[in-house]
Amino acid sequence: MLILGIESSCDESAASIVKNGREVLSNVLYSQINEHKDWGGVIPEYASRLHYEKIHTVIDSALKTAKLNFEDIDAIAVTVGPGLMGSLLIGVNVAQTLAWIYDKPLIPVNHLHGHICSNFLESSLEPPFLCMLVSGGHTQIITVNDYNEMEILGSSIDDAVGEAFDKTARLLDLDYPGGPELDKLAQTGSENKLYKFPISNVEGFKFSFSGLKTAVLRLKEKIGEEKFTEDKADIAFAFQNCIAETLYQKINKAIIETNLDTVVIAGGVSANSHIRKVFQERFSSVKLNETTAQDVVSRLQPPSCHMPNLKYCTDNAAMIASAGYFKFMSINEKNREQFHNYSLNTFPKLT
Ligand code: KG4
Ligand code: ZN
Repeated sequence: MLILGIESSCDESAASIVKNGREVLSNVLYSQINEHKDWGGVIPEYASRLHYEKIHTVIDSALKTAKLNFEDIDAIAVTVGPGLMGSLLIGVNVAQTLAWIYDKPLIPVNHLHGHICSNFLESSLEPPFLCMLVSGGHTQIITVNDYNEMEILGSSIDDAVGEAFDKTARLLDLDYPGGPELDKLAQTGSENKLYKFPISNVEGFKFSFSGLKTAVLRLKEKIGEEKFTEDKADIAFAFQNCIAETLYQKINKAIIETNLDTVVIAGGVSANSHIRKVFQERFSSVKLNETTAQDVVSRLQPPSCHMPNLKYCTDNAAMIASAGYFKFMSINEKNREQFHNYSLNTFPKLT
């Protein structure tokens, strides 16, 4: 089954064709980073205008790369939330128009479900597993019982991990987008006894990251601008280490509580080199998704860890096509009429 995925929830206009939820035939993306850079963050109104300008070219290019026409596509999947209202509306409008013209099923996709499904791309991973979802707006531990059946065990009570990265990057005077810049800077730093941030102590599977960002601010005030700038690589390292340890501790707790033996990470922050390294080193049998599609996830040596290929960590449309496929397949054939509703709503605050 060939699905055209369309993603426009934030600052990336993306389209992709994915076969049977796993095989990526094309993955095209127009990133608005350069346009928003001067403002140090995404300007919502500008983002939707840029989506409006680029989305058709991106879709066209996804079809051309896969050497397919609209007629060859079996269904269209589109992100309906969470995200910026104006940005979501562009993708949804284009998707429903195309689905209506070509009489194709239209599958509304939760962007967060898409992130989880990025782990299925070019891999043979199967549920059940635990997912540590870390993006710009969300931090959640999720039990993924089946492709379309999941439960949130806990989330952040304040800042999301990506938000903590972006805010701290600003304190460190780094460019937007802060997360990847902080990651790069931290790679030039190392453990320094002077700088150690405490892991926040919140009950159960909840997270809290707003204190960490404040701790970095307090440190800046305490040691002064000059020393802070001089040691910023070590400070970035300490910050990143604190996040990685927090995520690791919580996911370990979830492994014990749920008895699930496979862990996956997902969302933009799963691209972070240190988090990947910590998870890779600490879990007994790591199954990196960068090798072959034939990789079979072994359940013999628990717990094992699986990560999406780097190019599928941050926002993309391949993960939306994959989520669309699994959603479509989970619905009984007799009930698939629901996918011929061509007036979808958008849900900016979807969880
Ligand atoms: O999933 P995503 O692309 O968009 C949302 O759905 O939010 O995640 C974006 C977030 C941003 O906060 C960005 O700074 C962060 O992911 N991010 C990173 C890295 N790459 C992206 N954070 C830390 N290290 C990275 N390498
Ligand atoms: Zn995302």
